[in-house]
Amino acid sequence: MTFTLAHLSDIHLAPLPPAHVLDLCSKRITGYLNWQRKRRFVHDRAVLDTVTADLKAQAPDHIAVTGDIANIGLEAEYPAGRAFLDGLGTPATVSFVPGNHDIYVAESTGFAERAWGDFMRGDGGEGFPYLKRRGPLAIIGLSTGVPTAPFQATGTLGAAQLAALGPLLDRTRAETLFRVVLIHHPPVSDSPHHKRLTDAEAFTRIIAAHGAELILHGHDHLDILNIIDGPSGARVPAVGVPSASAAPGTDKDDAGYHLYRIDRDAHAWRCEMVVRRMSEDGMVREVKREMLSA
Ligand SMILES: [Fe+2]
Ligand SMILES: [Fe+2]
Repeated sequence: MTFTLAHLSDIHLAPLPPAHVLDLCSKRITGYLNWQRKRRFVHDRAVLDTVTADLKAQAPDHIAVTGDIANIGLEAEYPAGRAFLDGLGTPATVSFVPGNHDIYVAESTGFAERAWGDFMRGDGGEGFPYLKRRGPLAIIGLSTGVPTAPFQATGTLGAAQLAALGPLLDRTRAETLFRVVLIHHPPVSDSPHHKRLTDAEAFTRIIAAHGAELILHGHDHLDILNIIDGPSGARVPAVGVPSASAAPGTDKDDAGYHLYRIDRDAHAWRCEMVVRRMSEDGMVREVKREMLSA
């Protein structure tokens, strides 16, 4: 039986709630000014609602959300983000990993945990890296969200998550599950240094040694497919989606999401990717269909 996984990312919920001047005495001031100057014209709530309505109409078995629901880590952004997640489904059907905009300043970590923790835990109630088994899938959630200095949008997995990841990948391979790794920052990217995953090399070494069937990421706001080396010549697709709220005509890809239809025959996994994208007329349509592994 085919399992359908949907992937959307970089929600960047608009509008930004009112900010008190004290809330802006931090890195938030640069993010706030950036929002007022530029990003509020880029991220559109009506676009997001159209994209998510189309996604839900596809009735996927599970939805992966790879971060950046929030913008500058204001406390009021988290209940709004919770309402968004609740609108998609329950922790049984929705998995979330945070991005740099979700863990924007130190206090954002607590806001995210309190409002969204239910969607960031595994079947055993564990934190990152978490594991959810859904149908033939092992959904492995990683957090790259760490507070950073102004003008920095880097992400870091850290030693503890990296150490736990290899054994988790081995265990789930032994269970012959289709291993999907959720991570906000791309493990491979052309983006500038201040936006990168600082321990990307360590991450790709783990994938090379232990493998995975699919890596899903956000952050770059681009529809992009890279192939990462797995063990014994295996090829691991790492796929990014555009921001789900991108207004038409920005310098990044138009808003959309991906669907993965996953099944297994006697010998191998089959994973078909379907790209759905908002067109100029405001309709969301399939624009590409591609077999990722045979
Ligand atoms: Fe983002
Ligand atoms: Fe990001």
